[in-house]
Amino acid sequence: MKDNAIMKTPTIHVCLFPAAGYGTRFLPATKAMPKEMLPILTKPLIQYGVEEAMEAGMDTMAIITGRGKRAIADHFDVSYELEHEIKGSVKEKMLADIRHIIDNVTFTYTRQIEMKGLGHAILTGRALTGYQPFAVVLADDMCVNEDEGVLSQMVKLYETYRCSIVAIEEVNPDETDKYGVIAGEEIAEGIYRVTTMVEKPSPSDAPSNLAIIGRYILTPDIYDILQTTKPGKNGEIQITDALMEQARGGNVIAYKFRGKRYDCGSVDGYVQATVELYEKAKRS
Ligand code: G1P
Repeated sequence: MKDNAIMKTPTIHVCLFPAAGYGTRFLPATKAMPKEMLPILTKPLIQYGVEEAMEAGMDTMAIITGRGKRAIADHFDVSYELEHEIKGSVKEKMLADIRHIIDNVTFTYTRQIEMKGLGHAILTGRALTGYQPFAVVLADDMCVNEDEGVLSQMVKLYETYRCSIVAIEEVNPDETDKYGVIAGEEIAEGIYRVTTMVEKPSPSDAPSNLAIIGRYILTPDIYDILQTTKPGKNGEIQITDALMEQARGGNVIAYKFRGKRYDCGSVDGYVQATVELYEKAKRS
């Protein structure tokens, strides 16, 4: 381990990236290219997620891929020919961040053969994470925060509560059918002990407007639960349903994170992230 920053919070080592989905909302761009490789400025979405996980002390990135996703593994590998070509030129520094990642992180991969939902994708990751607590990042939810990344905030919370944690934000009540939605008892400011969670409820059935966004810390018993979780919303195995099982025992915390999330799985969110990060980069 070469990077001191990586060693500072060692409770959670592995971050799982479900990345097998088709990205149909971005067709035709995602016909032959993984949606996780769509760039915000010059970096692909998944690289932002990996950097967030590294900042939170994680040193192993476990990626659930599928057919047509090879570009992800190539991105997190050296490219000798390219690096040789630009060596000594001003362009060399454009590869500094990715080089830092490659030098400090181990990437592991497995393929999800059938798309049976996020819960199924996470279960596929068991071979990569082993039976220990782990983080999950959905790379198309891009999160930014000035002082501390969202996963870093969640790891600290995990050290206190030692149970599964989901990141939440308030959404427009009309949009609950796009998210897993929670209800619970607020035990500290912005921290809820979850009592109910529902996957993509219609606004009239939603228990609140507190929506789960693509950041989770999961305790490994989630794997045992997922093994027997029946298909739920849209006929898919839902992580929300498995988490509800843990919540029945009081073992899920929902956390209103500090920072901003962009839904980069939608064209609107993607453009907004691009514009705002561009404005910020111009100012600095
Ligand atoms: C998934 C989860 C959902 C969560 C969302 C966050 O849905 O199933 O509970 O709110 O991610 O982005 P998806 O967006 O993959 O349909």
